[in-house]
Amino acid sequence: MPSSIKKEIEGLRKNLRYHAYQYYVLDDPDVPDAEYDRLYKQLLAFEETHPELITPDSPTQRVGSKPLSAFGQIQHQLPMLSLDNVFNEEALYAFDQRVHDRLLHDEAIEYTAEPKLDGLAISLRYEKGVLIYAATRGDGTTGEDVTQNIRTLKSVPLMLLGKDFPDVLEVRGEVFMPKAGFAELNRQARLKEEKEFANPRNAAAGSLRQLDPKITAKRPLSIYCYSTGVVEGGELAGSTQYEMLQQLQVLGLPVCRDIRRVRGVKACLSYYQDILNRRDKLAYDIDGIVYKVDAVAFQRRLGFVARAPRWAIAHKFPAQEEISHILDVDFQVGRTGAITPVARLAPVFVGGVTVSNATLHNMDEIRRKDVRVGDQVIVRRAGDVIPEVVRVVPGSRKASSVKIEMLSHCPVCDSVIEQIDGEATARCTGGLYCSAQRAEAIKHFASRKAMDIDGLGNKLIEQLVAQALINTSADLYRLTLTSLVSLERMGEKSAENLLLALEQSKQPTLAKFLYALGIREVGETTAMNLANAFMSLSTVQNAEIDALLEVQDIGPVVAQHIVHFFQQQPNLDVIDQLQSAGIKIKDHQRTQLTSDINSELSGKIIVITGTLPGMSRGEAKEKLIAIGAKVTGSVSAKTDYLLAGDNAGSKLSKAKKLGVKVINLESMLALLCE
Ligand code: IVH
Repeated sequence: MPSSIKKEIEGLRKNLRYHAYQYYVLDDPDVPDAEYDRLYKQLLAFEETHPELITPDSPTQRVGSKPLSAFGQIQHQLPMLSLDNVFNEEALYAFDQRVHDRLLHDEAIEYTAEPKLDGLAISLRYEKGVLIYAATRGDGTTGEDVTQNIRTLKSVPLMLLGKDFPDVLEVRGEVFMPKAGFAELNRQARLKEEKEFANPRNAAAGSLRQLDPKITAKRPLSIYCYSTGVVEGGELAGSTQYEMLQQLQVLGLPVCRDIRRVRGVKACLSYYQDILNRRDKLAYDIDGIVYKVDAVAFQRRLGFVARAPRWAIAHKFPAQEEISHILDVDFQVGRTGAITPVARLAPVFVGGVTVSNATLHNMDEIRRKDVRVGDQVIVRRAGDVIPEVVRVVPGSRKASSVKIEMLSHCPVCDSVIEQIDGEATARCTGGLYCSAQRAEAIKHFASRKAMDIDGLGNKLIEQLVAQALINTSADLYRLTLTSLVSLERMGEKSAENLLLALEQSKQPTLAKFLYALGIREVGETTAMNLANAFMSLSTVQNAEIDALLEVQDIGPVVAQHIVHFFQQQPNLDVIDQLQSAGIKIKDHQRTQLTSDINSELSGKIIVITGTLPGMSRGEAKEKLIAIGAKVTGSVSAKTDYLLAGDNAGSKLSKAKKLGVKVINLESMLALLCE
């Protein structure tokens, strides 16, 4: 066989390994996916004609052919440890104190702070740079041989990169399923009417424990490496945990990008808070932070106790899911009449607060999850998202449980509830006759992004509506000191402040006013687009469907909602009354018109991510929309620019992957004026 073919094959493999590294480890591919596929196909073709040249470490050999009948066992040469936990600051300070005391060290300790990934621990053994086996943690001493399955993870190198590695290198890390992959897997399961996975961790475990590696290969599993096990015949460069992680990355092993080196407990806590704030936006599930004493010399001196190192601690986040049971179900009426079933729960501490109500979304969801009153349920509260009932605890159903049925009439105004075919949401047909819809409409009108009336909270609005002091948002401007102080718990000072705030809200921008009206599906962006396109309220009011369809982002459904809104006499009356009460919409700035602005960014599709220095993302968005840019939520091939601030994460990597231009706030401001 000509040696040139062998060379060709080796060249292709090297190339493919390099591109996989750029893609999976550095998140920074330098060729499009199609190019990778082309090289891969080329290699496949060569290997087909020269099967004698196929080696197990070839990128084509990830999926073995035969399913296993059972997993073998692997004895860990060094045990796989677990971590001690703390749940609050005091306990973390106590841990840090113990570290100081044992080391007789006065200065602040340097730690690596790492997200605590919620997946499964795995040990990868490389000998002479080649992946020999992969084992689960098992009981810490003996695990299962999942080599066949781990080989199907494209982010796990079958061969380490370079030459600078010890003869034997065991790498430990966490296999997990990214949230997006998990959502897609469950979506597919729903379509096929198969059982869904409860959470990404279960999905990762289930996927790894497949006897047929072809199934695992189809599951979106990833890995981040965080420590080493046996190291023989050489060393890893570096004298700290942080440097060790960097070295693993150099060898081709994926390491989490959100890991930081911090000094002292205060810095640990601010890292904890930062990650907790971003928890929902991270691409992967985590259940806390792990702090590890950074200096390996210190780690050696600290040693281990039982099954956990004395030099590391897990600082757990409040659980986002807990069990409670459904006491009853109420139906809430929203601003547009949407009826939402809400479960009244036995109070439960979840996601850091006590929750006693959780949304059941709509009847389709109730049927899909088969939720009944009396059931034990999993309640989830993640970040700012409204608490929800995720599912029934299997086997908890009692004979006394009661099915949930949609009401036929609105619980507030008794109007008929209608369910439009094809829509999941049922609606009260009462419109502004329904006091719940009126109250919700007024809450929306007064909210920060709308008229921004300080001191007019939801409870107060409900009180005002219940006492018939207001019926519409226009009535707000007819409130008097006397009527306000007649309310329970309303002092003269608060009443005066509220009247002042109402006075101050009388000059909204056109966009804010349009948004405040609460037209169905007209959010902030659409309101701004309408303002830019029509310049005045009366032109929007009189716009016909065709003209509305010309406006950026407005489709037939939204156009119809707008026209319908301005055809309703009660809505026109409220607008008239608002104007008579002294609401004067500020002149819409001609300079905000797209056609008048020659900004480089006009008409461009822009995504904003990360923390911008000295400006909120909302403000940046407003500025961009004002010059006719379109601000969207996720990066795709259509995105023109990514405006990235500090701590930009997956959107930044995706933008780089797709070759989307990345700009910072400073360059955005410069481009705005160009
Ligand atoms: S270090 C000697 N680092 O947490 C240190 N573990 O509760 C051993 N885990 O079994 C573990 N993220 O599965 C470490 N950044 C991280 C981790 C992490 C998740 C898991 C791991 C371990 C469990 C202990």
